[in-house]
Amino acid sequence: MQKFKLFYLSIFTALPFVFSSPALAAKPRLERHTLYAADTWLASEAELSKRKIQENITAAGTVPGVVIASPQRANPDYFRHWVRDAGLVMKVVVKLAERASTMAEKNYWEARLVDYVVFSRQNQLSRTLVGLGEPIFEVTGAPFLGPWGRPQNDGPALRAVALIEWAHTLLDRGQETTVREWLYDSTLPAQTVIKADLEYVSNHWRESNFDLWEEVKGDHFFTRMAQRKALVDGAVLADRLKDPAAAAWYRLQASLLDQELSKHWNGNFITATLNRTEGADYKHSGLDVAVILGVLRAPHNIYNAQNPQVQQTFVKLVQQFAKFYPINTRFPELAPALGRYTEDLYGGTHFNGGNPWVLTTLAAAELCYQFAAHSSSVSLAESWVARGDAFVQRTQFHANADGSLSEQMDRESGYMTSARDLTWNYAAILTASWARELSLQNIKLIKYNNKKRN
Ligand code: NOJ
Ligand code: NOJ
Repeated sequence: MQKFKLFYLSIFTALPFVFSSPALAAKPRLERHTLYAADTWLASEAELSKRKIQENITAAGTVPGVVIASPQRANPDYFRHWVRDAGLVMKVVVKLAERASTMAEKNYWEARLVDYVVFSRQNQLSRTLVGLGEPIFEVTGAPFLGPWGRPQNDGPALRAVALIEWAHTLLDRGQETTVREWLYDSTLPAQTVIKADLEYVSNHWRESNFDLWEEVKGDHFFTRMAQRKALVDGAVLADRLKDPAAAAWYRLQASLLDQELSKHWNGNFITATLNRTEGADYKHSGLDVAVILGVLRAPHNIYNAQNPQVQQTFVKLVQQFAKFYPINTRFPELAPALGRYTEDLYGGTHFNGGNPWVLTTLAAAELCYQFAAHSSSVSLAESWVARGDAFVQRTQFHANADGSLSEQMDRESGYMTSARDLTWNYAAILTASWARELSLQNIKLIKYNNKKRN
């Protein structure tokens, strides 16, 4: 216990200073790029991100409710609906509806949610190759039939997490009939989208499936976190809608998943995958930003920013990537850009080496902001905000001049590469900016409490 505590302290006190301070102006950089203050850029980028998300939901040439992964149709072709990407984006849309400043804006986002619900239910009813584990749908709503890594079982879980949150909003507003008709009804076999997802997750979580990167078949920390979150949230909703037997079943499965999650700690970091059965076999380290994404996208009472195992995994990832990509060693005054994992080969169009990604670099920023939100001193919290800002600035440094964000940053040149306007990136901008808001609120609160005490 003593050791545990010491480690915790040392990470929280030492880490911000391990990284060099961003003395940006003096160092050389790509001429084309200007650096902005992270908060200014994040604010304007958040506005841009809302517009980009709007554009990618029910885009021209797609049926209502489709969330294209990217408007790019070739090299790579991302003009399809990925269940995972869509779930993560629509969770952000639920928040955008909650935070809307006008009725018109709220109605706008809620209309997108209605379309997504109808489209998703159609997806569930269509004849795919692997039931609800199908990761991709065409923009016509037809299931994707090409060869792919399937099933991927994080998708239904992430979709449920997003829609359960919206269901509570509707229930708070007294719209129980709507919720029962469209989102959750206890009838089995399931007639509603959330119920169908929860039944799928609760009955299939033990099955080997492909990871969020669509490469490795096995048991994944990210997927299990998403599944567990869906079941825990699903149980609360089931109770609220007087379906106690289902609630008990979902809770039981969630607790079994918790036992599996603990097995991912390898003594050194939380490893992304256990029991690989098929798919890519070259991720020798097991060290993968997917773990951080699990912590961020599927909040857990144990595996969160305060958890030393999560912290240590984060530190190792940052250290590895910092020395790994040429753009990181070339511009060491910025926080490192992170890829998915260092053995990655996927460059968007080729497989001769992976690049840093936007959404993984932003995940690092978001986790730093969460560290800041849980720090108990002003100086510590502020240093974590600065650290988060440095990851945001790294992203801005490589972003297109108009603020648009592609999936990857070329590891040699730093320019945006692979699918343009990746919808998930814009969701990641918004979640990072909201996490930053919370960290600033925490700093205010600590200051207020300190004043009261003196
Ligand atoms: C496309 C997937 O989306 C990507 O994540 C993966 O790296 C490549 N295929 C290779 O399997
Ligand atoms: C490849 C990524 O690895 C995967 O996570 C994502 O779902 C697809 N691209 C679509 O964006």
